[in-house]
Amino acid sequence: MKPMGAIPADFAGTAPLLIAGRTAEVWIAEAGDTPLFVYDAGVVRRRIALFRKAMPAGVDLHYAVKANPFAPLVAAIGPWVDGLDVASKGELDLVMAISGKAAGSISFAGPGKRDDELDLALRAGATINLESEGEADRALAIAGRLGVTPRLAVRVNPDIELRGSGLRMGGRASPFGVDAERAAALVARIIEAGADWQGLHIFAGSQALDAQAIIETQAATLALAARLSEKAGAAPPLVNLGGGFGIPYFPADKPLDVTAVGAALTRALADRPAILRDTRFAIELGRWLVGECGVYLTRVVDRKVSRGETFLVVDGGLHHQLAASGNFGTVVRRNYPVAVATAVPDSPTETVTVVGCLCTPLDLLADKVELPVAQPGDVIAIFMAGAYGASASPAAFLAHPPARELLVGLAG
Ligand SMILES: Cc1ncc(COP(=O)(O)O)c(C=O)c1O
Repeated sequence: MKPMGAIPADFAGTAPLLIAGRTAEVWIAEAGDTPLFVYDAGVVRRRIALFRKAMPAGVDLHYAVKANPFAPLVAAIGPWVDGLDVASKGELDLVMAISGKAAGSISFAGPGKRDDELDLALRAGATINLESEGEADRALAIAGRLGVTPRLAVRVNPDIELRGSGLRMGGRASPFGVDAERAAALVARIIEAGADWQGLHIFAGSQALDAQAIIETQAATLALAARLSEKAGAAPPLVNLGGGFGIPYFPADKPLDVTAVGAALTRALADRPAILRDTRFAIELGRWLVGECGVYLTRVVDRKVSRGETFLVVDGGLHHQLAASGNFGTVVRRNYPVAVATAVPDSPTETVTVVGCLCTPLDLLADKVELPVAQPGDVIAIFMAGAYGASASPAAFLAHPPARELLVGLAG
């Protein structure tokens, strides 16, 4: 038997599994079939309330839409946060159509923005987080042609990294942002060119569970923002401090102590350098807001024994939930939390391997885990499926149908 991650507290301890107070079969009937992602809006609400309680006043919360762009979820989250961060024209179109957010609270980051993407953002009045000097030139030229004053921020490739993060994005050569050594010159140049300078975007990493690492990175980010602003000779209206708040996917992972992060940020902001006195701050979060709200439900199609090992073959797989198979940014494969959603209380358990329906050995969803005995027709739940699931998986691979998605718990 191999261990698996802990089932999120919002869903733990019930048999059968309850999501927003209803069983998996109720939600499957509502959606029409499996495989199905169910997102519980109540979980997102509680995360946002925790953030607001922990963080000092003057720190805005932005949602990084890339974590989960399911339209009803983005529409729900829009009014609950202060800003939305998008990373493509598609995401920008989506949030402008449904989130109810003013363009001024939308920011657009990401390398390789095409001219048509810059054009759309400039026309809309969204903030463009510039990833390079070349992108700045193109944005200024397009704004000139359109006759608009561009809202531009400079994304900095920091000379710091987020220690212990699953995805490091600072402290090295990078396609993301302008190297810290050159960022002040770019700020001065875009101000000189007549842009409406929105400030700095400094994102050092993702999926960190160590509060101390985030505290140190935020302190270093504040110091860097002050240094760059002094060098550029202008106070930034906004400093986006990045995010990086992680969630506990795997055995031995502990939830991030957000209260400790907030307490340290309160102290750091109280002592901030003078040039940042009137600056607003933002933290942009994806997975910490939505990762734990999602449950992927997939039905057992076959139960088979091969050379003494029991396999449950389900109707979903890595084409919907790549991350649970260990093929999305992890070095060593470990088990996500899983459960038999349809199990009754006190069912006998067994050691089983849950595999998807794709004809590849990569499609491994849970390896030798201890679960209640399940038969064809039972439903397996894979937790931590609210971020980088449906939209971050190779849905066209092997031409199976896409997963259904459902937002529930809005009333809760
Ligand atoms: C610029 C930026 N913002 C936000 C995120 C979202 O990260 P997470 O979902 O881990 O919060 C990422 C992730 O790579 C990112 O690159």
